[in-house]
Amino acid sequence: MKKYITIALAKGRLAEQTLALLEQTGITCEEMKDKKTRKLIFTNEERGLKFFLSKTSDVPTYVEYGAADLGVVGSDTILEEGRKVLEVLDLGLGRCDMCVAGPASARELLKKNQVIRVASKYPQIAKDYFYNRKHQTVEIIKLNGSVELAPIVGLSEVIVDIVETGSTLRANGLEVLETICPLSARVIVNEASMKLQRERIAGLIKNLKQALQ
Ligand code: PRP
Repeated sequence: MKKYITIALAKGRLAEQTLALLEQTGITCEEMKDKKTRKLIFTNEERGLKFFLSKTSDVPTYVEYGAADLGVVGSDTILEEGRKVLEVLDLGLGRCDMCVAGPASARELLKKNQVIRVASKYPQIAKDYFYNRKHQTVEIIKLNGSVELAPIVGLSEVIVDIVETGSTLRANGLEVLETICPLSARVIVNEASMKLQRERIAGLIKNLKQALQ
């Protein structure tokens, strides 16, 4: 039986960018380009590859359990999910920062070690930053999107969120107060696959590195 290498991609722009990069290495998956398809898994028989599209936050889960040998996902998701996976390559796609943001008036609250409320789609990253790096006790409120609303409507004093161009913050009278870490898309690998399929995986990573140059 043919052994496939299975690659999990985060649905959306990152999957499209990753496929474009793979194409530069000579790996194509025509089926996947059909935007109307409802199919979730695609095969490239010639190269012995399977691709599937999953919700972004599930990519590290598929890779940890070995349902996918490889995954491509943002480092925000890798940090938030905390799954046991090997991070092997920074693709440099989707560069942005994870930041603490809020109105300028909230800057003082971050210095005074006050108990403040922090809204975020990334509660683990927020918790790690405030508890382990800043040693500030905060109340973390999990939201699922449009996080910039929280300080405007009085749900929280600050937010922890992704800032790319900064235009969402500016449009809402908010600013970056502290930068937590830079983010970009990474290739992650299942630990057992890395041992059992080392050569094929190393070959794929080498090709991707070359395509990035
Ligand atoms: C992300 C992020 C910010 C925005 C930052 O939201 O949560 O809201 O992009 O980009 P900018 O600095 O270029 O303005 P996304 O569009 O993913 O949607 P969401 O608000 O539903 O999370």
